[in-house]
Amino acid sequence: MGCPPERIVFSGVGKSEAEMRAALEYGILMFNVESEPELVRLDRVAGSMGVKAPIALRINPDVDAHTHPKISTGLKRNKFGIPHGRAVEVYREAARRPNLEVVGLDCHIGSQLTDTEPFVHALKRVMRLVKMLTDEGITIRHLDLGGGLGIPYEEDSSPPLPSAYADALLKELSGQNLSLILEPGRVIAGNAGILVARVEYVKRGDGRRFVITDAAMNDLMRPTLYDAYHGILPVERSFDREESIVDVVGPICETGDFFARDRLLPTLQEGELIAVRSAGAYGFCMSSNYNSRPRVPEVMVRGERFQVIRRRETMEEILAAESLFPE
Ligand SMILES: Cc1ncc(COP(=O)(O)O)c(C=O)c1O
Repeated sequence: MGCPPERIVFSGVGKSEAEMRAALEYGILMFNVESEPELVRLDRVAGSMGVKAPIALRINPDVDAHTHPKISTGLKRNKFGIPHGRAVEVYREAARRPNLEVVGLDCHIGSQLTDTEPFVHALKRVMRLVKMLTDEGITIRHLDLGGGLGIPYEEDSSPPLPSAYADALLKELSGQNLSLILEPGRVIAGNAGILVARVEYVKRGDGRRFVITDAAMNDLMRPTLYDAYHGILPVERSFDREESIVDVVGPICETGDFFARDRLLPTLQEGELIAVRSAGAYGFCMSSNYNSRPRVPEVMVRGERFQVIRRRETMEEILAAESLFPE
């Protein structure tokens, strides 16, 4: 909302024609083109609108980001970007097309990176490409290095701070006449949000203890999707509680509906609230209505004040788009 078009880059392996038209009408900074068929389509769409589309090619540098395989995007087996080895050839093709203007180069190697080394490795690879392109008369003005900087989920982890990340990049970029674009997501929002849930039941299984909450995998799917760790705390602090090993699970009929397994936590009581930490990124935006569950409200807290910035959905809203097949 309200983002100026010159600050927008458009990435994604499956841009539709309608999306291309909308972005061209809006006048965004550049399209990060991820394949040759996309290049052909964008050239045609821009031509039909009588405009030139500003483009970067998203290069897949084949660098191991040392992150979870489902959020690793810069290996040659991943669907993203144009293979590093084909980059110059595809840039030549882009430069020849009448309705495209080459303005940049892009790469995004993954998310939740906890070390700067893969970023630097990828940067070195793409900088060699920028030099080769310049030698061919293809000028790169914008270098987009994507997002990906990780955050601490576990209490004892300490991924590099944004300042260390910036230092590592700037060391490689000194003396270059390029505008640098970054697309940070998780590092901005991840630890700014928690998911608050109520304990519905504490259940003794055969040799296990289950804490069953009113929140579920549809509200925060990272644990089941990535086996991700999220810290969990009782909202009411008390220092003399006993601790026990529990599985914290949701009410949905899926064994994958869990927030923590075999976790040592202060002993929780029916009815109390818990906070599932680090839920500000890839939390609500990945949530769904699975099991006809209305999505949770979003509450913004500033100092002592709070505001519901998105209210809880209602059952009527979930059903509103449905209609019966006519008899
Ligand atoms: C192209 C691109 N840029 C940036 C991001 C943001 O990544 P992160 O939240 O890890 O900073 C993503 C995440 O999927 C992405 O696909």
